[in-house]
Amino acid sequence: MDKLKISGGQPLNGEVRISGAKNAALPTLCAALLSATPLVLHNRPQLNDVRTMETLLSQMGVKVSYHDGGVTLDAATIGWPLAPYELVKTMRASILALGPLLARCGEARVSMPGGCAIGLRPVDQHIKGLQAMGAVIDLEHGYIAAHASKLKGAHFTFDVVSVTGTENLLMAATLAEGVTVLDNAACEPEIVDLARCLTAMGAKIRGAGTPRIEIEGVAALHGAEHRIMPDRIESGTFLAAAAATRGEVVLRDADATILDSVLDVLRRAGARIETGQDTVVLRGKEVGKAFDLVTAPYPGFPTDMQAQMMALATCANGTSTLIETIFESRMMHVQELKRMGADIDVDGNTARVHGVSRLSGATVMATDLRASACLVIAGLMADGETTIDRIYHLDRGYEKIEEKLSGLGASIRRVSGVSSQKSEVRSQKSEVRSQKSEVRSQKSEVRSQKSEVRSQKPEARSQKPEARSQKPDLISDT
Ligand code: UD1
Repeated sequence: MDKLKISGGQPLNGEVRISGAKNAALPTLCAALLSATPLVLHNRPQLNDVRTMETLLSQMGVKVSYHDGGVTLDAATIGWPLAPYELVKTMRASILALGPLLARCGEARVSMPGGCAIGLRPVDQHIKGLQAMGAVIDLEHGYIAAHASKLKGAHFTFDVVSVTGTENLLMAATLAEGVTVLDNAACEPEIVDLARCLTAMGAKIRGAGTPRIEIEGVAALHGAEHRIMPDRIESGTFLAAAAATRGEVVLRDADATILDSVLDVLRRAGARIETGQDTVVLRGKEVGKAFDLVTAPYPGFPTDMQAQMMALATCANGTSTLIETIFESRMMHVQELKRMGADIDVDGNTARVHGVSRLSGATVMATDLRASACLVIAGLMADGETTIDRIYHLDRGYEKIEEKLSGLGASIRRVSGVSSQKSEVRSQKSEVRSQKSEVRSQKSEVRSQKSEVRSQKPEARSQKPEARSQKPDLISDT
């Protein structure tokens, strides 16, 4: 397994390009299932989750081809409307195939995602919404088996705000008969991006980005070209890292208009921020104030930025309070931060972070994607070297993170599992060699002592009479 090694203490400085958004790419890839003609996506982020989704789609029969910075998905025929356990278990977002498959093929079999590191994460809202649109859904052998000869428009109100739930129903409704109204819908920018893509494919959608979305079903969608929006969580992560290291960075190809809640907290922490058309500049010299935040659905503070901001809070002047309201166990990074010297109390989903003067580098283990980003920031802040284990989480959601951070002056390197094993074997071999040479030198010392003893023996014998004659004195000495 790969590891990251970071030598902390350098402020980040320079420019970094923000990639396409993972959480926008995943639903738009699934949107390709809705059309028999090709969908072309630009600004495709090179991420493991994106590759997993493309593998899933190609197993269904979608032809996936790549061009410079983008991907073309041709779903002329869908042979197997199936999302198997093996892929769903590695990526929960595979559930996004359910709505489009059902709408296009009239059937779908998608493995139930299990719990994950950040909580139970049920998918009941996806299921209830599709049932409201006339789908018959059975849960069998760990799979959601759904059928509907034709989905019907319906009025569905979400019990809880769900991002992928809204995306699933939005995609399904584009090909349903009649009008669908989704109330208490999620308002995340990734939903607006998906709606833009679907509209380019011929869908009729109003209200995406508000809690009420109306979709008028059409008979068929067609292929289109779409540019995936910039990743607001990657943007926020680089800004938090720059602030935490008191650096100065410029984000290129970013969108400041969807970062309000994150920029607000960073400003409260002391950062100076300027925004442009597709740039964000952060100056972190005066960062150091404690801050409070509460995660909430958009436009509230994103849960996907909570862990990174906790790293920033560890060295603030005073106590910061971070409250997580979206997921029930999203504080796994706290224990690792404490191992680096952070002072944090956790009570349920509230973390009180008492600022310390410095963190110290340590070996830590990443537990989920954003917790990994938190540990990278902590490593950049810390004195000495930090080794982050299990960084496959990071590769799911951050494109070339060590290259981008190195470009900003960070001392960070990836140690591949194979090379770290090789170097371990090498160091074990060299230890064995040095032990052998120690044994050899001990043997030669023993030999030289023996020969010294032998050479001293005649002398010793010759000294004997004298020794005998000295005996009374020795006795008198006692
Ligand atoms: C999406 C994002 C994830 C982000 C999360 C919250 C993607 C691929 N992932 O995840 O990065 O952290 O939004 O912003 O876009 N819930 C239910 N029943 C459901 C669905 C959700 O109870 O059917 C609950 C969840 O357990 C959670 C809350 O609703 O407590 C929000 O979850 P949801 O918005 O669905 O998260 P995801 O869409 O899985």
